[in-house]
Amino acid sequence: MAASSSSFVAILTLAFFLLFSGSVNAQLSTNYYSKSCPKLLSTVKSIVQSAIAKEARMGASLLRLFFHDCFVNGCDGSILLDDTSNFIGEKNAGPNRNSVRGYEVIDHIKSAVENVCPDVVSCADIVAIAARDSVVILGGPNWYIKLGRRDARFASQAAANNSIPSPASSLNQLISRFSQVGLSTRDMVALSGAHTIGQARCITFRARVHNETNIDRLFAPSRRSTCPRTTGSGDNNLAPLDIQTPTRFDNTYYKNLLQRRGLLHSDQQLFNGGSTDSIVRGYSNCQSTFNSDFAAALIRMGDINPLTGSKGEIRKNCRKRN
Ligand code: HEM
Ligand SMILES: *[C@@H]1O[C@H](CO)[C@@H](O)[C@H](O)[C@H]1NC(C)=O
Ligand SMILES: *[C@@H]1O[C@H](CO)[C@@H](O)[C@H](O)[C@H]1NC(C)=O
Repeated sequence: MAASSSSFVAILTLAFFLLFSGSVNAQLSTNYYSKSCPKLLSTVKSIVQSAIAKEARMGASLLRLFFHDCFVNGCDGSILLDDTSNFIGEKNAGPNRNSVRGYEVIDHIKSAVENVCPDVVSCADIVAIAARDSVVILGGPNWYIKLGRRDARFASQAAANNSIPSPASSLNQLISRFSQVGLSTRDMVALSGAHTIGQARCITFRARVHNETNIDRLFAPSRRSTCPRTTGSGDNNLAPLDIQTPTRFDNTYYKNLLQRRGLLHSDQQLFNGGSTDSIVRGYSNCQSTFNSDFAAALIRMGDINPLTGSKGEIRKNCRKRN
């Protein structure tokens, strides 16, 4: 009797554990490299720090690199793979080509990390840490980062073309794109707050500043002045996504949306008389709610389909599979 009741308890415990490990990601953990690479976090931070000191925009570029990695087959470093004769990678996909930046900074971090602990740390994790450090350095929230992702052996240009949301998206398209990777509408609105930093090319906001009516009457002409109407002229001219503080991670992005000063069509969709207006108002009124929701949502984004266990590999060079 005693034996069977204790085995009953054991089975219950096991069942509970299995249930629990199915709902949270059991394999990523905040202390994953604490024994195998204790200098990892300080090594990454000092390189991100100097890259941002050289060019503040790099913080934005590194944050976006993480987003574009995670949305395409999960956070697996696939975006970093150069094209080869066997596959066309993600770097030249529509949403990335002439747009995603920061690959050299990731290479620099990887070689410094290889010096302190060779063959231990994945490129996918380096991207995640660099994104977090960028947010912190530019004045945003800090959080413990979950680690233990492994690197993909393949990349898919088609998947990158099809998974990264377009700036022409409607609110419903944005909501469904995020829900396809398990992120809620509120996560989508919080993560869009990343557009409090960084720049966009004229080609991504031309139609909005020339043709749309839900736009501030002074903001539109000032953006048109460096983004000509004609397709092909000035396509790469840059404008800040947050007109007020483009190198400061704050909640001004949402305040701009209330003024109809969203730069991208997709930005203004979040505050255009629809279901997300109240979330935007909330974040515009409260920096600390935005900060904590952003950090929580970025942790969830970092949990999208990681390769763990015996899947994937630890690349030696982030641009090539081993
Ligand atoms: C909600 C859907 C989103 C759309 C449609 C979108 C679209 C864009 C576009 C078109 C650009 C300008 C690219 C260029 O002109 O080269 C951009 C820049 C940027 N995006 Fe997003 N984005 C979205 C969500 C996000 C998320 C979730 C993050 C990060 C968590 C993010 C971070 C950034 C950053 C930081 C920049 C500036 C990059 C730089 O200056 O190098 N975006 N985004
Ligand atoms: C991805 O999109 C780019 C440009 O939009 C296009 O040139 C390329 O052929 C597409 N690749 C695939 C595999 O669909
Ligand atoms: C503005 O809209 C008109 C009419 O729909 C279209 O022909 C034109 O290409 C659009 N211009 C831009 C810059 O999107």
